[in-house]
This record gives sequence, structure tokens and C-alpha cells, in this order.
Amino acid sequence: MTPYNTIKIGTLELSMPFIQAALAGYTDYPMRHLARRFGCPLTFTGVMLDRIALHPKAMRQLKFLPHDGEHPVVAQILGDDPAIIAQAAAVFEQVGYAAVDLNFACPVPKVLRRLRGGFLMQKPDIILQAVRLTRQAVACPVSMKIRIGYDHSAASEEDFQSICQIAADEGVDMLAIHGRTVSQKYRGKADWSRIAAVKQRFPRLTVFGSGDIFCADTAIERQTQSGIDGVLVARGAVGNPWLFAELLARSQGSPPPPPPTLAEQGRVMQEHFEMICQGRKDNRAVPYFRKFAVGYSKRHPERKKTMLALLAAKTRPQLLDAIKTAYGV
Ligand SMILES: Cc1cc2nc3c(=O)[nH]c(=O)nc-3n(C[C@H](O)[C@H](O)[C@H](O)COP(=O)(O)O)c2cc1C
Repeated sequence: MTPYNTIKIGTLELSMPFIQAALAGYTDYPMRHLARRFGCPLTFTGVMLDRIALHPKAMRQLKFLPHDGEHPVVAQILGDDPAIIAQAAAVFEQVGYAAVDLNFACPVPKVLRRLRGGFLMQKPDIILQAVRLTRQAVACPVSMKIRIGYDHSAASEEDFQSICQIAADEGVDMLAIHGRTVSQKYRGKADWSRIAAVKQRFPRLTVFGSGDIFCADTAIERQTQSGIDGVLVARGAVGNPWLFAELLARSQGSPPPPPPTLAEQGRVMQEHFEMICQGRKDNRAVPYFRKFAVGYSKRHPERKKTMLALLAAKTRPQLLDAIKTAYGV
């Protein structure tokens, strides 16, 4: 890859075009912190309901706040009422988030039933209001996350084009597009040609793509071949913060760093787990860590055995013991 110039999302300047996507249930502080430490220039919270921001008591909870030393973080907002979305954006900006991202992509049935997230891919007029009011409510960059349509119908295609036009006309600082429809959820392959076409149609709009990014080669290939500005790394970064170190080195034209030794993997896992324990009781932290353990164990030469040992741990000492046995730390 030829060395990469910095890229801007509004006033935010990024050292490379690869950033940690929002992943509800994953991208809380520990995962974001590790992503940042391994070179990721920007991270997102998991999606947060707009109404949470309107409860001062809720907003005192650490889980809803960006932490020292991890800036910049983007707050991702889910809602159905443009005025409330905009109010929430102002609160998130006030408590220290560097930018706000409006979610019009979530395909979870409960979210769709409540006319939020991906449901709004069928309502360009509501998206227009939400973006406009949010831009008026905050000074920070505003981005939005969409999919390539609600489904594959002609009406959805028309709505998708209108929504991209809105993003361009309203001066959205970054449009992130997941290359699947809402109806597809996570089935099938992401269609990057649809994402590339948006960049071709709106060359001045900052467009990021998302979908099926599980290694540095694919991330770089997608970014260069589709001509878009950047790529969101989502599931591929779960238990794999080293992906960002590789992407950063290659973005700067340097050779990729050597893969982490087993001991380093073990130390990062311990650190990740300990950070989780600071925000959760041990009996919750252990099951919560399991989904990350699955990701981490993929690098282990005895992957299956290691994964099963990590998943079998029921208590904090058992989990730390399993890490010690498998990784020698
Ligand atoms: C468990 C899970 C949670 C997700 N949570 C969010 C979220 O909160 N906000 C969002 O915009 N996208 C969310 N996504 C979508 C991802 O950001 C990403 O767009 C999608 O997974 C496609 O990328 P990938 O195939 O590289 O994982 C989520 C995806 C998964 C699998």
C-alpha cells in the first residue's frame, strides 16, 4: 500500500483510514481502549438509545461516558424522533464525545418494530429532519450509518439514493455504509460495488464502507479498489486489536509488525479481562469476556482446545488460570 495521507472527518484528523466500527455489546471502553492503543485512530460506542441521554442520572454512569485517554470516541445514537435524537446529540457532545453518529442501519427486529435504526431506511424525510436538527444542535462532526437499502426492491433503491443525497446536501461529515440491506441482516456477502457507486456519485462526501472485513489485506483492498475514503473494522477486530497495528504500519508504508507472541496475546487478554472487571462484577465479567475469548483464541495454534478451556472457566481465578495455562503468562 502506498503511504497514506491523513483523512478528515469534519474537524477530526485520522492517522489512517481504518477505524473501529460500532458493535453493540462489544465496543465499550475496554475494547475501544485496546483498539486505540494498537493504532486505531477513532472508535465508536455501541449504539445508545437517544432517551438515555435525556436522563441526567443515567448519564452519570461510566458506561455511557468516554473515558480519559481514549479520545476521540464517537457516540452512536438510535432514535425515532428527530428532535429527541438532536437533543441527545447535544448531551453526548457536552459529556465529551468527539462526534455523533446517527444509526439508520440496525436490523434487530425489536428496533425495527419501534420504528428505529434500519426501519428509517424507508423514511428519508425523517432522516433529513434528524440530520438537520442534529447539525443545528451540535458543533462537533456528525456522521451517519446506513445500509444499502431496506431490501432489494426498487422503492428501497430510490430511498437509498435519496438518503445519500441528503447526507451530501446536509453536509454530513461522514457517511458509513454497510453493504447489506436491512432485510439481509448479516446474511450473504456485503456488496461493496454499491458503496463505491455512492463515492462516485458524491466525490466530495466522505464515505466509509463496512462489511466482511476480517483481515488487513481485505480492508486495504476494499479501500483502494472502491475509491472510498475509509473502512470500518467490525467483527474482525473482536479479540484482535493487532489488526489495527498491522493496518497502521501498512498505511504508513512500513512492513507489518511481527505477529504477537503467545505471551503477548495472553497479557492483552488479561488486561482486557481486568478492564472488564473494573466495570462489572466478576460473575458478570466472566461470561461477558467469552465472546472476546473466542476471538482471541483464533490466533492460538491449539485454537479449539484453548477456546474450550477459556469458555469453561466459571470464575475470575479460573479464567485467569486458563489464560495462564494456554498462553504461559
Ligand atoms: C454483534 C453486532 C453488533 C453490532 N452493533 C452495531 C451498532 O451498535 N451500531 C452499528 O452501526 N452497527 C453495528 N453492527 C454492525 C457493524 O458495525 C458492521 O457494520 C457489520 O458487522 C458489518 O461489518 P463486518 O462484516 O466487518 O462485521 C453490529 C454488528 C454485530 C455483528
